[in-house]
Order: sequence, then C-alpha cells, then structure tokens
Amino acid sequence: MTLKLRTKIVDLLKKGEVGTEVVAKGWVRTRRGNKNVAFIALNDGSTIHNIQIVADVAVFGDDFLKEVGTGACIKVVGTLVESPGAQQPVEVQAKSIELYGKADPASYPLQKKGHSLEFLREIAHLRPRTNTFSAVLRIRHAMAFAIHKYFNDKGFVYIHTPIITGSDAEGAGQLFKVTTLDINNPPRKENGKVDFSEDFFGKEAKLTVSGQLEGELAALALSEVYTFGPTFRAENSNTPRHLAEFWMIEPEVAFYDIEDNMDLAEDFLKYLIRYALEHCKDDLEFLNKMWDKELLERLNSVASTSFERLTYTKAVEILEKADIKWEFPVFWGADLHSEHERYLVEKHFKKPVILTDYPKEIKAFYMKLNDDAKTVKAMDVLFPKIGEIIGGSQREENHEAITKRINELEIPMEELWWYIETRKFGTAPHSGFGLGFERLLLFVTGMGNIRDVIPFPRTPNSCEF
Ligand code: 4AD
Ligand code: MG
Repeated sequence: MTLKLRTKIVDLLKKGEVGTEVVAKGWVRTRRGNKNVAFIALNDGSTIHNIQIVADVAVFGDDFLKEVGTGACIKVVGTLVESPGAQQPVEVQAKSIELYGKADPASYPLQKKGHSLEFLREIAHLRPRTNTFSAVLRIRHAMAFAIHKYFNDKGFVYIHTPIITGSDAEGAGQLFKVTTLDINNPPRKENGKVDFSEDFFGKEAKLTVSGQLEGELAALALSEVYTFGPTFRAENSNTPRHLAEFWMIEPEVAFYDIEDNMDLAEDFLKYLIRYALEHCKDDLEFLNKMWDKELLERLNSVASTSFERLTYTKAVEILEKADIKWEFPVFWGADLHSEHERYLVEKHFKKPVILTDYPKEIKAFYMKLNDDAKTVKAMDVLFPKIGEIIGGSQREENHEAITKRINELEIPMEELWWYIETRKFGTAPHSGFGLGFERLLLFVTGMGNIRDVIPFPRTPNSCEF
C-alpha cells in the first residue's frame, strides 16, 4: 500500500529531486509578492527552515491568495524546482493549493514581527508555531532520545517509578497533595484532623518529588538503572530556574562510589551536549543567532573541558575571599545559592564545577556520612548560566547509620520501612544523581527562562493550557 503522504519540508530541502512533483503541507509563516506572483514561506515543524512556495496570481487569483496568509494551513501540490533566490536551494512551483484552515490576520496572535518571550508564554497553545519554540521542542526531543540512548548503550534498565507517593521521605520540597476527599467537607477524626483513612488510598498521598528512593530499590537488584519522569515541587520559587512540574533523570548504580558517580555525571552531560551539537545543528545555529551569541562557543567549551572538582569547604573559602557583597551570606554550613554557584563557575574557575562533601545538615538523610561525621558524600554539578544542574550522592548503605540518621531527623520510620530493608538484606555501596531535564535544556538551548523550554509550564499562579 502506498501512503499518500506529504514529503516533509526537511527532506524536500535536503534531498528533494528537482523536476519531480511533490506534496507539501504546513503552516504559512509569511506571504509576500507582487501583482503577478506570491511567495509563501511554508513550515511544517520538521526543520527551522521554510520552503518557498511560488504561486502565480493568474492561476490562483488574488482573493484566494490573500487567505493563504500568516498562520493559515495548506496543502500544496507542485514541482520542485531550483530556486533563483540565494535564500534557499529549491522551491515549489505550485500547481494546486488546498486551504485546510485560514487564520484571520486581524485576530491571529502571531504576526510576522517578532514577539517577546513573555507574550508567547501567554499563548503557549500557539507558540510551537514560532521558529524559536519549534527549535526548542526539537532539541527537547533530541535530548530525551539521547538520554535513553546513552543509558541503553551502557546496559542501564529504565525504571518507571510511581508518580503518586505515600511517603514524604526525600524532604526535597513542598508536596502537592493527591486526594478524592471533598475538601470543603472532609471526614474528620475525633481530634478534628482530616481522616485520610477514608481517602482513596486509605492514607495521605502526594505527587512525587523524585523517583530516587524507588530507583535505589531497583538498583539493588538490577545494578544499573535510571528513571526519567515528571516530578513535582510546590515550593513557591518564582525564579527563571524553577518549575512546579519538571522532568528528572535519575541514574542509580550499585557498586558505584562518589568518584564513579562524578565520572558518570560528567561523561553523561558531555555526551548530551555533543549529541546536540551533532544532531541539532540548524536549530542551535538559529538560537545562537537569535538569543545567545555565545551559545555554540559555550557548548563546545563545556563538551571539551574537564570539570573542576572540589569540596564544599574549599568552595566556601573561595567565596569568603571573593570581593563581592552577596545577597545570601556565605559561611561554613550555609546553603549555597545560585549567585555563589555561578561565581565559582563563571568567574573563578571558568568551567563546570562539581562540589562534594557538603555539611550533612543541608543535605538529605540518605547521603553517606564521611569519616569526619560532619559532611556527607554529596555532589552537585554546577554549570555556567544555570548553577546547579545535577544533585546526587553516594548513598548510606549501612543499616545502623541510616536508621540513626532517620531517627535524628525524626522522619517517621513507618513511611520508610521498605527502603530501610534494602540495607538489612544484601546491602551494597551505591550512588546516583538527578539531572533536571529543563535545566539541561536551559543550558543546551541558551534560553534564559525555564518556562521557555517546556511546552506548558506550571509555576506558582500559572496552570493554563
Ligand atoms: O537536587 P535535587 O533536589 O535532587 C534530588 O531530587 C535527588 N533525589 C536526585 C538523586 O540523587 N537521584 O534535584 C535534582 C535536580 C537539580 O539539580 C535540578 O537540576 C533539578 O533537579 N531541579 C529542578 N528543576 C526545575 N525546577 C525545580 N523546582 C527543580 N528542583 C530541582
Ligand atoms: Mg539539589
């Protein structure tokens, strides 16, 4: 059976045979011309480049061609010919045009002129039709594919960890509650508190902040695993780097120590950047030209430099010596903020940095305690323009040590009995980390705001589309 499909515009431009009849379908980006001929720039999302459709006014009529304006969707049958213009190698001399859908120029929000990114966020239902967003979405796809390829090639097993969780163990942020109770009139216990035993799961449930804990269970059986799924944090962080719903990649590996973990993180990030440089060339060149003139240079530089590795303690010494008035004060024990992280990366070392051995008080309960009993085997990877892109650690695999820490932090043991059992039965040294997918995309695309690298961002006070 032959399918009567269109040829994608990317293929017409790259390998279309001049002189043949072709079918192109897509959305009109612009139409210009004179009284004899109309030039229609058509795009179908397969490439940043448009194909030029040439339509004779005598054949199609002025009234019809006026409807084939910016935003309209059309099918074109025509002959692929060499283009006399320098802009493109080939163009389509139209024989017939079918108008699938008009777009009234008086009300179509996307005009020829460029729009601000802020405005485009308000019309996220249409922004995939812009050059910038179609480029970002293609890169987003390429990175997701490359992530699976990287791990698959290394023999990692992809684990689907639950999105609804009954435990709040990670302590990584505020959780969204999941309930079917009538919130205006919930069942109550005698003490007046909501009776979640009558809720859907018979207990309180939330959206997960991370797949790590379940990932660890799988790693302690399959050795090398990773997760790649949505995670949710209800923290009220209205910054260009935080989303309430974001995607995270979390490899977890048995028999890895913190050094192995750092090697994996560095190799993984460089692989992804090289993959983008190789497979998303046109889109990256466009974004470099439009939004960030140093993008390609930065990507090439990070892909080929070894990351600086140092302890939190050494980093704090550097930051204390820096002649800068910090918004958040620096002292041993303080959590580092984006301003500190970016100073280390952009000003001091001028390359990505991996910080290790943080004070245990500012890190999660599951990180392995160092011999000094003060710091844990944590690792944060810090990137130019982004700050923290990866957070991870070697895990505490010792049963006694992890139980002690859980008690110290007063985490309810009954929420974590299953996690602790892996330390009781055949425990093993293991490590892992989490890469924020949208943080990676911020870096790879050069976009400045995380709302512009996810199709439909969820942030405080914003849940449209
Ligand atoms: O450092 P985090 O909180 O680490 C964890 O969740 C661990 N369970 C990971 C692990 O060891 N398996 O988050 C990991 C990464 C951060 O480095 C950041 O890139 C991203 O997730 N991230 C966010 N991205 C967008 N919006 C937010 N609100 C984010 N919070 C964290
Ligand atoms: Mg972190």
